[in-house]
Formats: sequence, structure tokens, C-alpha cells
Amino acid sequence: MGNYLAISEEKGYFVLTIDRPKQLNALNRPVLEELRGWLEGHRDTKKTLIITGSGEKAFVAGADIAAMKDMTPQEAADFSHLGQSVFAKIYEWPMPTVAAINGYALGGGCELALACDLRYMKETTRIGQPEIGLGIIPGFGGTYFLKKVLGEALAKELIFTGRQVGGAEAERIGLVNKALGGEEFLKNVIELVKPLIDGSRSALATAKEAMNETDILKELGRERRLFADLFAGPDQKEGMEAFLARRKPNF
Ligand code: CAA
Repeated sequence: MGNYLAISEEKGYFVLTIDRPKQLNALNRPVLEELRGWLEGHRDTKKTLIITGSGEKAFVAGADIAAMKDMTPQEAADFSHLGQSVFAKIYEWPMPTVAAINGYALGGGCELALACDLRYMKETTRIGQPEIGLGIIPGFGGTYFLKKVLGEALAKELIFTGRQVGGAEAERIGLVNKALGGEEFLKNVIELVKPLIDGSRSALATAKEAMNETDILKELGRERRLFADLFAGPDQKEGMEAFLARRKPNF
């Protein structure tokens, strides 16, 4: 195994942990490439996949802002394509996938959770798409998936305002299946998804295939182009510089 994933393989399921805790598990190219390699190498195992984040604070705090700050539009398009294609592999994983949101799920972290079939969240943490405050839009599928999960008005509200929601609200609006207390969080998630682990593999895989979109990457193409275009203007640089300097952006 490489540097940024910790995997535990159990009977009927894997727990895959994004393991870059000092940067709150932010997704840069090496993390995404390692994730892609692992997904490609294990999709034939026919096991349920549970994804979580390392440390106490974060599931995934987003795509890596420091890595994106100086990207050209072409580099941003390539980065978005990488993120989208990795998340498409999760969406298309042949068995159910579950996000165990143990901490902040922001930006790319919310998108990673949205690419999973089911989402469980610690009630004390927050989930959302704060990209607008960085002068950009979601670029790993959030504009598509959030609209699909929440409906257009709510998805637009969350993306236009960047508002992050807590566990109780996330459960009420259907952004997560359930919000749970913090004690033994992962153990409780695994207990809840037992039917996805012990059930008929062929029926589970077929139910997923019947319900999935057929060409998810094609659906995400417009978001990718629009995301990249923003890297040609000043707001993306100002938004990201401001975040890294811990000040408010001046758009
Ligand atoms: N990228 C890079 N580094 C990040 C990061 C990110 N998305 N999120 C956090 N970090 C880093 C911080 O820079 C900090 O690093 P240093 O210790 O070296 O300064 C470290 O992780 C700890 O973070 P904070 O000190 O900020 O921790 P906090 O408890 O004060 O705040 C937080 C936690 C609210 C999650 C805050 O870190 C935050 O708002 N992070 C950014 C969230 C965000 O905007 N995500 C969207 C990214 S853009 C995106 O994802 C686009 C896309 O769709 C492709």
C-alpha cells in the first residue's frame, strides 16, 4: 500500500480510510492516484466498500487548496477529470459503497460522500460545498450529485451560499441517510449496513446496476469545463490565497 490509504479487509467488506490527517485528508493528485489504483485493483472482489477519514476531525476537508492555487485552466481541467474519474469508479463500484462521515466533509469531501450509495454522519460535524467562498465551483461532481440527491432549489441554495450543514439538518434534508452519535461511530455504521454485507451479492450488485446512471463521467463533463474556466479569472486566485492566509477574500 502507498502513503495515503489505510485498508482493512474483512469478511464481505473493506474499510478504506483516507489517511492524510495533518491536511484534514485533503485530496491532492497523489491521494487521488493511489485511490484510483486501489479501486482498479480490487473491483472484482465483490465486497461492500466503506470509506472514512483518518483522525478525529475530518472525513475529507476537500480538494487540496494549496495544490490548486496556482493551477492553469488546463491543469484545473485535468485535476477535475482525475477527481471525477476516481469518484466515478466509486459510483460504479460493483457492490454498495458507504461513506462513514466521521468529521468535516467539505467540497471534494462532500462530493466523495455523494459518490457513495449511502451516507452516515457524526451528528456533531459538518457537510457542504463551500467552494463559492474560494471563487470556484465544485469540480468533482458536486453540482450534479447534490442536485440529484436534494433537488434543485436546495442544492442551489447550498452551492450558491456555501452554507455547511450539521448532522441533524443533513439527515432531515436527505443529504445523509442518518446522523449518529460519536461513540463507536464506525462500529455503529458497520452494524447499520450489515444487510449490505451479508445479503446476496448478486442481487445487491444487480440492484445497484439497475439504479445507477449508465455514463456518469459524461454527465459531469459540463461541470469540469466550467470549473476549469474559473481558473482563468482573478477570483479563484484571490479566494485560495485568502484561505491559505487565513483572511476573508476580497472578490
Ligand atoms: N486543502 C488543503 N489544506 C487544507 C484543506 C484543504 N481543503 N482543508 C484544511 N487544510 C489544512 C489547513 O490549511 C491546515 O494546514 P496548516 O496546519 O498547514 O495551516 C490544516 O489542514 C488544518 O486546517 P485548519 O487549521 O483550517 O483547521 P480548522 O479546524 O481551523 O478548520 C476546516 C477546519 C473548517 C475544515 C477548514 O480547514 C476549512 O474550511 N478547510 C477548507 C474547506 C474547503 O473549502 N473545502 C473545499 C476545497 S475546494 C474543492 O474541494 C473543490 C472541488 O470540488 C474539486
